[in-house]
Amino acid sequence: MAGTGNDTPFKIEVSARIRRLPPYLFASINALKAQKRRAGSDVIDLGMGNPIDPSPEFVINKLAEAARDPHNHRYSASIGIFNLRREVALKYKRRYGVELDPETQVVATIGSKEGFSHLMLALLGAGDTVVVGDPAYPIHVYAVALAGGNVISVPLGNDDAFLERIEHVLRNLFPRPKLMILNYPHNPSAMTVEPEFYQNAVALARQYNVLIISDFAYGETCFDGYRAPSFLATPGAVDVGVEFSTMSKPYNMAGWRVGFCCGNPEMVRALSTIKGYYDYGHFAPIQIASILALRKGDDFVAQQAAIYQKRRDVLVTGLRKIGWDVASPRASMFVWARVADKHLAGQGTIDFSYRLLQEADVAVAPGRGFGENGEGFVRIALVENEMRIKQALRQIDAALNGRKKKQRPSKLAQRISARQPTPDVGEADAGRSSVIGG
Ligand SMILES: Cc1ncc(COP(=O)(O)O)c(C=O)c1O
Repeated sequence: MAGTGNDTPFKIEVSARIRRLPPYLFASINALKAQKRRAGSDVIDLGMGNPIDPSPEFVINKLAEAARDPHNHRYSASIGIFNLRREVALKYKRRYGVELDPETQVVATIGSKEGFSHLMLALLGAGDTVVVGDPAYPIHVYAVALAGGNVISVPLGNDDAFLERIEHVLRNLFPRPKLMILNYPHNPSAMTVEPEFYQNAVALARQYNVLIISDFAYGETCFDGYRAPSFLATPGAVDVGVEFSTMSKPYNMAGWRVGFCCGNPEMVRALSTIKGYYDYGHFAPIQIASILALRKGDDFVAQQAAIYQKRRDVLVTGLRKIGWDVASPRASMFVWARVADKHLAGQGTIDFSYRLLQEADVAVAPGRGFGENGEGFVRIALVENEMRIKQALRQIDAALNGRKKKQRPSKLAQRISARQPTPDVGEADAGRSSVIGG
């Protein structure tokens, strides 16, 4: 069943669009994780980019207050209430110097994943092709397939060479691809870009008449003083593309499902049109609370990024001690780590991650699950506190290097980590999105 990670063929006749989804590569790992948890193991789950830290208190208070007002209990607007869209435009202006018209250039989405998927449905039909870097965040591939389109994978990069690879496709493929997907800071690789990259991408899009979609989910999760550029800040970007942003990562509001699509008015209109048929928008109190988050949450966002930066330092230092040659990312919620050959021991990363879970009780996302070019890497999410990350490192070290006996966290460490073992949340957690989502 799609979304459950269960790859057993359907006994009913499902649509071609479900049948053409690529094989699901995480099923065995998710099954083992669920099995271990049911058996009472305290699996340290660094597989999914699902923030563990709480949403801002002032935003939660606003949600509660707004939820008590019966005026807010009705269906809302599928594109989001005007004040929310205006607040997004104000934030783009404040942070990136980008002018957006909230009426025509901003639409609220039920998480950026929903928006991205429905935009694919709005723009693509059978035979249309989309250029996507490899490795990729899986929905960038699945949503194209679900919309009936085809993906042309190009080895990922963040430089002129990457754009030249894309240009080669645009020049030679007929019919020409309709879209190219850009995602910086990148999931899973944490790759980042400078503004010149987008200038060249916009020039390419103009020359070959393709549209650009920028996924900017990690735009505010930056370290060491780096500020990720917004695609929309590039001159001419609004003529050729849109950018998705989200409240999930910067504000720890993943469960609230609030994202935005901004930029090209025709693309925004296409998405708004399709959403108008599918949904009635968010619960209004969520939108009202999100307005406050956008207006008053800049400090919160900066503090949260600083928390990820510290976890990154702990993780990168620890992995290097274990013997892995790991680059320290300057953005995103992930460390994209090349597994040492001696530890991979000839296995692929899917088998390796299975073994790590089996022997170290630590879940990571195998790079192969993000595309062929992800092979050899694992993606480790910074979604546990420093204490738990250190514990995970000890367990990985023990399992791979056999240096120390595997240690369970002390009672004190458990109290300090202030977290119960992650509960078994059932099949949904063992699902397609549980390792590769987020
Ligand atoms: C690159 C990227 N885009 C989009 C999303 C989805 O975010 P949202 O919660 O807004 O749907 C994620 C989630 O992990 C992501 O990594």
